[in-house]
Amino acid sequence: MISKQTNVVILTGAGISAESGIRTFRDSNGLWENHRIEEVATPEGWQANPQLVWNFYQQRRRQLLEVKPNQGHEALVSLENHLQNFLLVTQNVDDLHERAGSKNLIHMHGELAKLRCEVCSHVEEMMEDEHLQETFLSCSKCEGRLRPHIVWFNEMPMQMPEIEKALSECDVFIAIGTSGHVYPAANFLHMARRHGAHTMGINLDPPENVYFFDEFIQGKAGEILPMLIEKWTQS
Ligand code: OAD
Repeated sequence: MISKQTNVVILTGAGISAESGIRTFRDSNGLWENHRIEEVATPEGWQANPQLVWNFYQQRRRQLLEVKPNQGHEALVSLENHLQNFLLVTQNVDDLHERAGSKNLIHMHGELAKLRCEVCSHVEEMMEDEHLQETFLSCSKCEGRLRPHIVWFNEMPMQMPEIEKALSECDVFIAIGTSGHVYPAANFLHMARRHGAHTMGINLDPPENVYFFDEFIQGKAGEILPMLIEKWTQS
């Protein structure tokens, strides 16, 4: 199904990082447990109680130091190295794809490792010990207050024009570890299909949009991806 010339777009979600020990969102013990989404993942929540939101994200930022990429992240690097046209779009805000070695990567929901100035929008990676505490931090350019570099509900996902262009040009679209609940990412499958791409889903449970994939493989990304990608890259 895949040769070196095949143009591939991959979408990943929380499921690909689950085997690294990061909880997914919609599990019974998921990341949102104990928090209302509106409280910690909306601009209104940040305005109402910035300290609560800051502490929530600082805890998630500290967690990055304790987790490592798994075989699923690593297999996607082998695939990228094998292909001439490859884009990885992730909904994940962790940095496990880039730590595994992925290069052509878009974080459409932002990045935990970075903070953004509320005043001048300057973005900076800040992961030293002094950046991971409960005290607010200021921008190195203008002294404005920094906020998480995260796309909250009611905010625009990042780099959408590039993603849409890639979806319109790809031959194969693969969604991995995502429940298909959150738009616009859940719509990428339909956008790729509309342009004639072959579509594949890989997920532990059947996602919301399972019936629209040409192929669906049920199981763990860290087990399925190394096998599949080894087969594709050796042929
Ligand atoms: P979800 O928590 O909604 O879904 C994770 C999916 O991964 C579920 O369907 C699981 O069955 C599957 N899964 C779990 N372990 C897996 C494994 N080892 N291998 C393969 N699949 C596995 O997470 P997302 O779909 O990523 O947005 O959620 C999308 C967005 O909703 C997130 O980016 C976040 C959230 O609200 C924002 O914060 C803006």
